[in-house]
Amino acid sequence: MKVPADPGAIAKAAELLARGELVAFPTETVYGLGARADRSDAVARIYAKKGRPAENPSIVHAATAEQAFALARDVPAVAHALASAFWPGPLTLVLRVSAGAVAPEVVAGGDTIALRVPAHPTAQALLRASGLAVAAPSANRSTRISPTTAAHVEKELGSDLYILDAGPTGFGIESTIVDATLPTLVVLRRGSIGLEAIGRVAPAVDQGDHVVAEGQKRKAPGAFSRHYAPSVPVVTAARSEIRRSAAELSRSIPQHKNGGVITIGVVPELDDTRLRVEALASEPEGFARELYAAMHRLEDAGVGFVVVEAVPDDDAWKAVSDRIRRAAR
Ligand code: TXA
Ligand code: MG
Repeated sequence: MKVPADPGAIAKAAELLARGELVAFPTETVYGLGARADRSDAVARIYAKKGRPAENPSIVHAATAEQAFALARDVPAVAHALASAFWPGPLTLVLRVSAGAVAPEVVAGGDTIALRVPAHPTAQALLRASGLAVAAPSANRSTRISPTTAAHVEKELGSDLYILDAGPTGFGIESTIVDATLPTLVVLRRGSIGLEAIGRVAPAVDQGDHVVAEGQKRKAPGAFSRHYAPSVPVVTAARSEIRRSAAELSRSIPQHKNGGVITIGVVPELDDTRLRVEALASEPEGFARELYAAMHRLEDAGVGFVVVEAVPDDDAWKAVSDRIRRAAR
């Protein structure tokens, strides 16, 4: 059930976590599905609820950098520098896991751990109230669109789940994941913090576009090709090609369902079509904030396909174009 994230609800959620139960909560990126990270039975509930493959490890959330780093060993100076620059905030750091710090299921039996100190006041309050490190992937079924509202979580995972509702999230796409276990920083997933900002702290290699076909052994966990995807086909098209692309898709969909379009700002040429148009912001931050919600709305409206306007090929749009590419596979 969705519950307004007031102090009483946060206390109740902390109690559920302490007992090993699941709680969904907002972060500044997307909503997470949390369980205490130190108990296998609790973490197993996350994987069962999401239908998540056991070999995909989960991000561990802590209230402070100190608490987060306590779960890791051999923490390099650059990790401390990144933490001072971006924590609390939408950065996830991959470090060597300290033996026995969390249940083995959290790290999928590996020797690294992904750590994040979220800035969202509700996430902070929950982590502080529970005093726990909380494993929390995004609160969606595996490979599906991430939730940016409590209603999205309920749609994905059902109403028997305790969901702290603090309205829509601020960033709208997931945290940037940086591997700090190697001699050079490697960005494993593009996200809410831009590559340029990471690069100002230390040089980083961008492997955010690394994708792995389903069934193939992954290099970077979470790099599966189909991810962040609505239940209908998604294609991208340049603005001038949107109409043609939509017409083609309508013909190929037997039920002749209406299509949806996601555009960068308003596109007047589409006004006279039967397409359901979601005109998002024309700058990347605003577009990112609205992208998943727009996909959820189109899906809920029963569209047969989604055409997404191709975004500019520059750094500021990289995280967004990465999510669209994965949705479109
Ligand atoms: O913004 C976010 O990061 C959200 C909020 C809830 O914090 N969480 C999130 O979690 O996006 P999830 O599980 O949907 O994505 C976590 C990604 C996965 O791709 C996973 O493979 C990767 O983090 N990951 C987890 N542990 C890792 C590790 N030890 N090494 C490399 N990647 C790891
Ligand atoms: Mg996810």
